[in-house]
Amino acid sequence: MDKNLLSKTAAAMVAKGKGVLAADESSGTCEKRFKTVDVECTEETRRTYRNLLFSAAGVEQYLSGVILFDETARQKAVDGKQIPQYLAGKGIVPGIKVDKGLVNIPFTREEKVTEGLDGLQKRMKEYFDLGCRFAKWRAVITIGADIPTHTCLYANAHALARYAAICQEASIVPMIEPEVLLEGSHTAERCEEVTEAALRATYAAMSAYNVSIEHLILKTSMVVSGKDCPRQAGVDEVAERTLRVLRRTVPAAQPGIVFLSGGQSDESATAHLNAMAATPGLPWPLTFSYSRALQNAPLKTWRGQAGNAAAAQKAFHHRARMNGLAAQGKWKAELERHAA
Ligand code: 13P
Repeated sequence: MDKNLLSKTAAAMVAKGKGVLAADESSGTCEKRFKTVDVECTEETRRTYRNLLFSAAGVEQYLSGVILFDETARQKAVDGKQIPQYLAGKGIVPGIKVDKGLVNIPFTREEKVTEGLDGLQKRMKEYFDLGCRFAKWRAVITIGADIPTHTCLYANAHALARYAAICQEASIVPMIEPEVLLEGSHTAERCEEVTEAALRATYAAMSAYNVSIEHLILKTSMVVSGKDCPRQAGVDEVAERTLRVLRRTVPAAQPGIVFLSGGQSDESATAHLNAMAATPGLPWPLTFSYSRALQNAPLKTWRGQAGNAAAAQKAFHHRARMNGLAAQGKWKAELERHAA
């Protein structure tokens, strides 16, 4: 465990005005996304699309890191280098999704736990050799009548902690992601309650497995109203509820917190981040680690056509810049300056 390297990596991931692009969609998820724009999903189209994002001029000003899928970490970039080396050359830290997806927890109502711990120590060494310096593991928590159960929170927290310890042992910074899903008709108040319970369970497990808080990044969902809830919490309420939960549960020693977008609109994800990052006196830097809220626009613009690549890169650059501003609490002012 190289603590200096871990500290350096974690600090770089949450560097001022930058955030992380999540480009680690499994091939199945990628297929779903490509289908929305009528693009065939093959190894080559996935490579072309992701390289379009990675090679967009100037995005390195706003991207501290990129989370890759296993396949992408082994593919070639536009200049013929391996993609992790290409990203590192642009000053972007390459990361890797190491979990293997979700399975049902027996004796629950189809609540999920994340798989992928078997053989992880060996895989982690390989990822380090490929140049990856941080990793991601996503746990999924669904809100519904009588769920999440304690069983679900406990099972996921332990998997996250075992994963985090394995990462740190291999000098790879663990990004731990207990995602509370947006789907459902729950209120923001209920989301706050569940997010707090999930984070409490997560940090209790980190302590049980001797995970070093100083070398850890939390990737969390924001506290928002369920997608089908008739009353949708506004930007200030989301910021207030999310920060209250984070202050209660995340140790100040942690180097930073990043957010997922979770199906929020592009602009909501930016506005929520901006409101939180503009709050003075927070113990940790906050930034984004979005997939959809960064990729919706470029994907729709690209549509699999080489002739649209430059416009798609521009759309991606714009969202990355907006979120880079939001991570400093400067997005709203920039918007008003433009409107004036
Ligand atoms: P979204 O921003 O689309 O939620 O994806 C982030 C992510 O990495 C989910 O694991």
